[in-house]
Amino acid sequence: MRPRRLLDISWGEFDAMSVEQKAPYLVQSDGTPYHTLFAQQFDLALLERLTHLATEIRGIAKTRAGMGFLRELVCHKRAMLYFSQPSSRTFLSFLSACQILGVQTGEVRDTSTSSEFKGESREDSVRTFSSYFDMIIMRTPEKGLAEHTAWAMSNSERPIPIINAGSGQDQHPTQALLDVYTLVRSFEHLGGLRNRTVVFVGDLARGRTVRSLSRLLTNYPNIRQIFVAPAPLQIGEDVLDNLRNKGVTHYCSDDFQAVIPEADAIYMTRVQDEWDKQKGDSARIDIARFHFGLEQLKLLRPHAILMHPLPRREEISTAVDHDPRAMYWRQMRNGMWIRTALIAMTFGCDKRIHEYHRQNL
Ligand code: NCD
Repeated sequence: MRPRRLLDISWGEFDAMSVEQKAPYLVQSDGTPYHTLFAQQFDLALLERLTHLATEIRGIAKTRAGMGFLRELVCHKRAMLYFSQPSSRTFLSFLSACQILGVQTGEVRDTSTSSEFKGESREDSVRTFSSYFDMIIMRTPEKGLAEHTAWAMSNSERPIPIINAGSGQDQHPTQALLDVYTLVRSFEHLGGLRNRTVVFVGDLARGRTVRSLSRLLTNYPNIRQIFVAPAPLQIGEDVLDNLRNKGVTHYCSDDFQAVIPEADAIYMTRVQDEWDKQKGDSARIDIARFHFGLEQLKLLRPHAILMHPLPRREEISTAVDHDPRAMYWRQMRNGMWIRTALIAMTFGCDKRIHEYHRQNL
């Protein structure tokens, strides 16, 4: 299950390509992802395949027999969880996804406990993992490292797939997958994910989840995007350029109260102050107008949902948690199912899952 042709391309040539040009090099011959690096790799057909598979897995996992079936599926593979940046949900949901499918796991969560501490290069470290494992799931603070690793792995004697679990401020494609899955599930009985308005709020300049989700949403028909943030935290021009190129209706605002009644989904984010150029920079930005509490809840339409990739700080009051429109805890659990689906698909198990689902549910 090697991706097409990546073997023939030098890192310099690959790095110089646009993300859209890179996408065909990351898939298997039937269009299934091999490396998952960018949101731009996913088109509507693939998103529908993946969300459908996640829902089947969810159904199968409800019984002991179903769990037994799933646990056998990929028990011949091992995955390395390489997380050199803090993580709770992404790490645990990938770990759970591996456990559901029977994939054995190893982990590095702190490079000071690996040989990188002795001066081994990052490339040699990941090449070492590829000797023992069949997949690397990686989160790093460095933009582009997952991509470089994928290129290096495709050119090694033992190619293995890479899944990007968050790369710097740039991309978080599997978070965007779980966000889309949450939106698809929330609107499936209301005509599907189409003709909706999604409002992004908070630190849009440095939040990678918004950057990936904005791109993924362009696959669905007529999804309007509104970006609400104080000026220093407003969304990047590259994301807006992508929306302009695709003809997606969008606008930026700093008036949260005025926008809430327009929303079908509100996607809150925390201030990403770990990226401050100087400590305390973010604290000088007035973000209180962009918080969601009981006052804002009154303005939210009855069918609308409130999302957050988590972790949250003050941007969503805990007083809102018990409202049925607060979707963030279910959103988090959806992450486990969609990541299970992605791993199963990457290892070519989707047909067996469909078959089991058809015969038993
Ligand atoms: C996000 C991340 O790491 O980018 N968290 C996550 O994966 N659920 C968002 C954040 O840290 O604010």
